[in-house]
Amino acid sequence: MTIGVPKEIKTNESRVALTPGGVFELVNYGHQVYIQETAGEGSGFSDEDYREAGAIMLPSIEAVYAMAEMIVKVKEPVPQEYPLIKRNQVVFTYFHFASSESLTRAMIASKAVCIAYETVRDEDGSLPLLTPMSEVAGRMAIQQGAKYLEKPIKGRGVLLGGVPGVPPGRVLILGAGIVGVQAAKMAAGLGAHVTVLDINMKRLRYINDMMPPHVVTEFSSVYNIKRHIKNHDLIIGAVLIPGAKAPRLITRAMLKDMRPGTVLVDVAVDQGGCFETTRPTTHEDPTYIINDIVHYCVANMPGAVPYTSTLALTNVTLPYVLKLANLGWETACKEYPDLGRGLNIVKGKVVVDEITNAFESGLV
Ligand SMILES: NC(=O)c1ccc[n+]([C@@H]2O[C@H](COP(=O)([O-])OP(=O)(O)OC[C@H]3O[C@@H](n4cnc5c(N)ncnc54)[C@H](O)[C@@H]3O)[C@@H](O)[C@H]2O)c1
Repeated sequence: MTIGVPKEIKTNESRVALTPGGVFELVNYGHQVYIQETAGEGSGFSDEDYREAGAIMLPSIEAVYAMAEMIVKVKEPVPQEYPLIKRNQVVFTYFHFASSESLTRAMIASKAVCIAYETVRDEDGSLPLLTPMSEVAGRMAIQQGAKYLEKPIKGRGVLLGGVPGVPPGRVLILGAGIVGVQAAKMAAGLGAHVTVLDINMKRLRYINDMMPPHVVTEFSSVYNIKRHIKNHDLIIGAVLIPGAKAPRLITRAMLKDMRPGTVLVDVAVDQGGCFETTRPTTHEDPTYIINDIVHYCVANMPGAVPYTSTLALTNVTLPYVLKLANLGWETACKEYPDLGRGLNIVKGKVVVDEITNAFESGLV
């Protein structure tokens, strides 16, 4: 099969869909891989690295789309790419169709086969192609939070680990899922006192078994949240209710109960956020202050660490890319139902109800 990897052109996106290692694997199986020149630059891979691995480098995005039977990407295609996508071409990437009617209509019109990373789902309901990005965001939440606790950037002026003779900082984590566990691990590693709240006792048991004793678990309730926000320095929002907006666990009125310079990191901002005062920010301007409380609400946290994020993402996407290339999309999606659940739009037909239901105007 001919596989094409265009350079990502969405603002602030530096990841790339295949590493030189991935190219090497595909070429070993007898596939031809076309990479757009400089596509890997933002993630630390040169054109030479790709050439050595067996890729053919192409100078333009148009050439990559024109050559490939399957396009592998990171982010959803942007309008500039819509006319380049061909009938029957397989496009394997994050799409998030329900959040863009224009993208959905463009992909229906293209008659391509659109397989979305975010809906590839294992038997147990887990989402293997979303997990690594939550892992990155969870770890980054503490790194960023620790930085914004510094006084010159309006934080409380607390060092998370403390020093001998001075108690450590206190971190409150709302949600003990993938983001929450990784955040707890990082915070505990720095020596902070960590409190993790969740409504799922299985998750709390897991944390309790796994983490050192300075990581304390409690059931998530309004009462407990109100109690803890008064004496924690860094608060991480990491809740998710699948398919729904994040619950508002910290209201605007509750900000006055926090100490000035407390830092809120709302990782759940991409689902609307779990603090009432959350609004999405960017890596260029990541924070804002309300009532002396620092808010960090970057919607694409992994974008700041493209080298790590590219490796983490391609570790999990490559096995699926190989299946699609070796078997063709129809057989691969039939033989591997987890991959099959990634099919969203097939040759002009929407095949998942969530997309049709997302748009009031209807799609037909
Ligand atoms: N900002 C970013 O760059 C970025 C990156 C990756 C993920 N995310 C987002 O982070 C959020 C968390 O993702 P995840 O992969 O950890 O999800 P997850 O499903 O693994 O974990 C969510 C946890 O929230 C818990 N929860 C639900 N309601 C709660 C409540 N009222 N109180 C406390 N806990 C509650 C659930 O029981 C679950 O354990 C999602 O919204 C995800 O989209 C954002």
